[in-house]
Amino acid sequence: MFRNFFNFKSGDECGSIFVSVSKMKTRKIKVILSLFAALLLLSAFNRKEPAARNLQILPKDISEQQLDEVMTMYCESLKVECSYCHIPGDMASDSLPEKRITRHMMQMTNEINEKYFGKNSGVVGCMTCHNGKVNPNDAH
Ligand code: HEC
Ligand code: HEC
Repeated sequence: MFRNFFNFKSGDECGSIFVSVSKMKTRKIKVILSLFAALLLLSAFNRKEPAARNLQILPKDISEQQLDEVMTMYCESLKVECSYCHIPGDMASDSLPEKRITRHMMQMTNEINEKYFGKNSGVVGCMTCHNGKVNPNDAH
């Protein structure tokens, strides 16, 4: 009787309970692991890659918010929409001449400030000349 108690043979009632419990545990772990793997895959696909930027004048490490402020200032100074310089959905594209002209205007504005008012003083801006017009030389 005691011998039997200490010597479980495979197939013994208690032994098979142990086996099925540990099987259930590994199955649970497998399910949890594969859920984790699925989550990792999902997040890898969903992660927003830092957009490849095409900034040639503005600082490359400019924050989204600062970039937004600068672009809004351009719109207000010339009284135009984003699409005056950008192809909607492809902001990095340089295909519109207005965007390329703007780069010259940015450089010119920076140089005027640097020479007469102090680097990054921002005293002269797009508004100084454009004042709500696409071409400052237009009478209206
Ligand atoms: C008057 C022209 C002009 C207007 C209007 C304008 N942008 Fe821009 N935008 C530019 C120029 C020029 C650059 C590139 C600056 C550089 O090279 O440093 C730029 C760059 C950007 C970029 C970075 C794109 C990249 O990945 O390289 C974003 C985003 C952007 N503009 C959004 C906007 C939004 C949104 C608006 C409207 C609220 C707007 N812009 C209005 C001229 C303009
Ligand atoms: C010192 C004055 C001055 C400043 C500052 C200035 N501009 Fe201009 N901009 C002009 C003049 C003058 C013209 C017209 C040039 C021409 O007729 O050939 C012009 C033309 C342009 C054009 C082309 C318009 C067209 O009819 O095709 C764009 C776009 C523009 N500017 C954007 C800007 C932006 C954006 C800024 C600020 C970063 C800026 N400019 C700052 C004077 C200025």
